Amino acid sequence: MSLLLSIESSCDDSSLALTEIESRRLLWHRKISQEAEHARYGGVVPELASRLHAVDLPNLLEQAQPYFDEIAAVAVTNEPGLAVTLNEGVMMAKAFATLRKLPLIPVHHLKGHIWSLFIEKPTRLPLLVILISGGHTMVLQVRGLREMEILATSMDDSVGESYDKVAKMMGLGYPGGPIVEALAREGDAERFDLPVPLRNSPLIAFSLSGLKNAVRLSIEKLGGPEGMSEQDRRDLAASFQKALIAHLIQKIRKILAKEPIPNVALVGGASTNLAIRSAFEGLCAEYGKRLHTAPLEFCTDNAAMIGRYGLDALEAGLSVPPEEITVSANRKLQSGMKL
Ligand code: KG4
Ligand code: ZN
Repeated sequence: MSLLLSIESSCDDSSLALTEIESRRLLWHRKISQEAEHARYGGVVPELASRLHAVDLPNLLEQAQPYFDEIAAVAVTNEPGLAVTLNEGVMMAKAFATLRKLPLIPVHHLKGHIWSLFIEKPTRLPLLVILISGGHTMVLQVRGLREMEILATSMDDSVGESYDKVAKMMGLGYPGGPIVEALAREGDAERFDLPVPLRNSPLIAFSLSGLKNAVRLSIEKLGGPEGMSEQDRRDLAASFQKALIAHLIQKIRKILAKEPIPNVALVGGASTNLAIRSAFEGLCAEYGKRLHTAPLEFCTDNAAMIGRYGLDALEAGLSVPPEEITVSANRKLQSGMKL
């Protein structure tokens, strides 16, 4: 048996996985989430995240010790993300690969999210990918490991980030996505008339900061987070989610209408949102496309998806000498760029 060890530390999750190289079977997967530690700050504090990775990653590696002799390659997220947290995983990967003389593969975190679709499955391309996470919102045309083009991005906040900010403004916890989604399920989406962003603009791009400000003004009118009843929170969450989904659907409809690729995928942390999933199911059905999603546990950050991309990259000969792997924080990703 030969295994690929994969490591993820781009934000607030420390995660390691072991995938069988020949069979693609995910043999072992661990994740330590730092959500509770960041919750009281209402978002991720990079220095705190880095210190927690420095403790958690070596602990996880120790748990993988029984498999060490089978490990034949290492894959690690090296971009994009928080530089101080990426470094923790990259340093560990370099040390391990150097000591044991193993091929080392740098993995782009967003490509990892896309390859979450293929965990324990064959790679299936081409795909039109809608990526909605805490760090990014984009649509990509994906044809191969290094053949992808960004078709649209957010000009400001990402989808996950806007849920986090709405939760924070209402005085709720972090991450905001699951909290706001649960509130929205019980709320009246018609109660607050929030603007659908870029509704009358021909731009094929996303923007969520205006919607966030509209939510902020509604909260102020209700007397701030303390002045809100549980029903107010539910109704505002539902109204916010409705406007956000209408915006995503309106823009992505324009892309789908022209796009010949029959397979569409929804990936990233916010793709766990069932209201968003079902809206895209409906949109894809309208255009005769098939929608693919990853199992819920692999939508948010994890090392299994990094390992799955790592397998294909290893097969394609994309390993790199350890000294050549550098960390890149947040290159501005724009429409028209190739990844
Ligand atoms: O992909 P991910 O784990 O990390 C990044 O690469 O950014 O995504 C985390 C983001 C957070 O902003 C979180 O609030 C959001 O995904 N998220 C959700 C839901 N679950 C997680 N957003 C909306 N609805 C959800 N159910
Ligand atoms: Zn992510």
